Amino acid sequence: MPSTIYVLNGPNLNALGKREPGIYGALTLADIEALCVAEGEKLGLEIVFRQSNHEGDLVDWFHEAGEKAAGIAVNAGAYTHTSIALHDAAKAIGIPVVELHLSNVHAREKFRHTSLLAPAAKGVICGFGADSYILALNALKTLTNQTR
Ligand code: DQA
Repeated sequence: MPSTIYVLNGPNLNALGKREPGIYGALTLADIEALCVAEGEKLGLEIVFRQSNHEGDLVDWFHEAGEKAAGIAVNAGAYTHTSIALHDAAKAIGIPVVELHLSNVHAREKFRHTSLLAPAAKGVICGFGADSYILALNALKTLTNQTR
């Protein structure tokens, strides 16, 4: 049975494609979902791909993934920089969490340099556009081979 990986997306990522394309690229979230599903097929991972603009949904999905999945790849959007709740959720579940970003947050505004989620994550990938998702899935493939 393939391992299940939750790919979770936070606020404003539903607007990808038209949202600041110079920073985030031209692909829509549906395009990125298709890339993740294709990479999942290559890696033998079943992908559950979701987006919400609401912090509590993401917290609920972390807990759901803790019950049903082998790992989480998460682009928490702006909640990365503000959410103690997501930090706590990542710590409350027994599966690896990989934080990812399309843009290189460290090359942008100062408020993006801090991640409250990162200390609770296995690792962070940022700056590679849609490839950040692909790199996160590959990292989770390795991590879940080690854990489950
Ligand atoms: C982002 C970076 C965040 O700082 C920002 O709030 C986002 C997108 C990225 O993918 O580059 O919404 O997570």
